Parts: sequence; C-alpha cells; structure tokens
Amino acid sequence: MSNAPHPLVERAREAALRAYAPYSRFSVGCAIESIDGQIAVGVNIENACYRLGMCAEQSALSAAHQAFGLDKVARIAVAGGDASSGTLSGGGVCTPCGGCRQAILEAAHLGGRDIEIVSANGDGTETNMVRISELLPFGFGPGNLSDAG
Ligand code: THU
Repeated sequence: MSNAPHPLVERAREAALRAYAPYSRFSVGCAIESIDGQIAVGVNIENACYRLGMCAEQSALSAAHQAFGLDKVARIAVAGGDASSGTLSGGGVCTPCGGCRQAILEAAHLGGRDIEIVSANGDGTETNMVRISELLPFGFGPGNLSDAG
C-alpha cells in the first residue's frame, strides 16, 4: 500500500463521476494507459435487469481497444465509491472482480505483458499495485485453445 497521489488513479476517480450505478450506488471508474501514454477510461453501467450490468474495467477495455488496441495495454487503475457529492469518496480499495481479471488477462496475453493494476479507494488516498499474474494465477488464456479442432 502507498499513499502517494497517482495520476492514473485520479483519471479513474474522475471517470467514476460518470458511472451509471442507480441500483448499487457504487460508482466505479477505470483508466487504462497504453505503452506509449495514451489513456482510455470506462465506468460501470448498470441495468434494470441487474445481471446485465457492466463493470468499469470491461467498459474501459472496450474504449482502450478502440483507441489504441488491447495489445498495447500497460497499466490499469480502478477506483470505486460514492459519487453522490460530486467527488468520489470511500475508504475501501476497489480490486477488479473475477470476470474483469479474466478480461484483463486476455489483453495481457495479447500484448505479452504482465499488466500492472493499481487499485484505489474512493478517496484516492490509498492505492495498491499488483500484476495480473498475481490477481489471476493459473488463468485460462488463448494458449489453452491450441488443441481445438
Ligand atoms: N464493479 C465494477 O465496475 N468493477 C469492479 O471491479 C467491481 C464491481 C461494479 C459492478 C456494479 O455495477 C457495482 O460495481 C457493484 O458491484
């Protein structure tokens, strides 16, 4: 854990203000940085049919793919909390859910890079950096399909 301010986390916190999370009221923002410094962002988008909600990471991965390509993803920041005051707040560090870890792993395999993930609390005062290989060891990737017909 570190308390140093992190520019990519700030982009994620800012993005979270545009989350659509009327059901959980937990706003998440994700900012993805490419190997050459471009940034794409995404937010969680919930749905009245709850199970169809989309996480911020997957929204951001879609934007990143459009902007610079999944194979160029270097670093991902995620922050979640309460956006109702106009500034993201909250004490808990938001780590990608299992499904998002799998989606990030696809980008890691494509680019041949152990993507860095910076998780932050809503307040932006606590961050925790890990690699996708730590979040999802023994993951299933494109290589596992090599025996398909
Ligand atoms: N959520 C994300 O967007 N990313 C995560 O990594 C964890 C959870 C969203 C999904 C849902 O809209 C809300 O947070 C509460 O689970």
